[in-house]
Amino acid sequence: TAQLNRVAQAAGKLYFGTATNIEELSDAAYAAIINNRTEFGQITAANVMKWDSTEPSRGVFTFGAGDQIAALAKKNNQLLRGHNCVWHQQLPSWVTAGHFDAPTLSSIVSTHCSTLVGHYKGQIWDVINECLNDDGTFRQSVFFDTLNTSFIATALRAARAADPQAKLYINDFNIEGQGPKSTAMVNLVKSLQAQKVPIDGIGIQAHLIVGGVPPTFLANLKQFTALGVEVAITELDVRMTLPVTDALLAQQRRDYQTVISACQAVKGCIGVTVWDFSDKFSWVPGAFAGQGAACPWDENMIRKPAIDGIIAGFA
Ligand code: G3I
Repeated sequence: TAQLNRVAQAAGKLYFGTATNIEELSDAAYAAIINNRTEFGQITAANVMKWDSTEPSRGVFTFGAGDQIAALAKKNNQLLRGHNCVWHQQLPSWVTAGHFDAPTLSSIVSTHCSTLVGHYKGQIWDVINECLNDDGTFRQSVFFDTLNTSFIATALRAARAADPQAKLYINDFNIEGQGPKSTAMVNLVKSLQAQKVPIDGIGIQAHLIVGGVPPTFLANLKQFTALGVEVAITELDVRMTLPVTDALLAQQRRDYQTVISACQAVKGCIGVTVWDFSDKFSWVPGAFAGQGAACPWDENMIRKPAIDGIIAGFA
């Protein structure tokens, strides 16, 4: 069958991409696929650009692991999505301990974002990750608790100052369909725009369940792009309760197609990233007992019916 990035670009999208981790690249069959630019035109580091990896102690920046992912993308002429500047998870304890007053934490956020975005220039960045709750309120975190919502503007402004060319995103899950959380995202973007805070895009993670693509997915993409920002599907996978059956794989193929065809139908949806492409390295079984098989390639690097769904979605 056809290669995914080639199909996506022929359909007018910027890229089809995947998340990855350094350890996975020593699997030869896996590496052969990820190094094929016609398959993947974009790479996201699943872990190594997060705060615990990049600033393990205050003011001490460690880019070795992140640089390996950046070098992989560069070697293969693939775009890089930076992931991420500010998130409530995978934080070093010096941040979570909550020892800082508001001005100090604000300056810590600013320094972290500007150093990261300045180091990986010319990228697309998930500047803010998962700042909302499902009910549309802001998520509690060391950042929100100390700074209320001001950390969002601080992070975005620092990112813009560090690299005016970078595309700056807010990324979240459970904003695939319309509902309180998507509405909150719309309101957040509107309020940032009203304050002239730089914001270029909304990242829709799309960690989905077989048979569970929200019926309002397309309408929601349109609602987001109507704000004048772009959108990207940033972490797509479609998990199922194991064991795998032909019926589940057939439904998964339809689900991938539904997601891709919605992105295809909306000009401002720039590209799609899967949250790793092989079931061998998916985060799902570790997070949801008894679930898995969420990726387009199986654990033996064999293409699943989902790939035909992706290709059909771009048609
Ligand atoms: O690095 C340590 C290693 O030293 C240790 O031996 C090992 C033992 O468990 O853990 C390793 O850390 C793990 C890390 O991934 C790196 O592999 C953590 O336990 C594990 O929790 C962590 O999971 C990551 C998860 O984010 C953390 O919340 C997943 O790999 C990563 O795929 C996942 O990605 C997130 C996105 O960033 C945001 N959206 C949701 C998505 C899925 O949860």
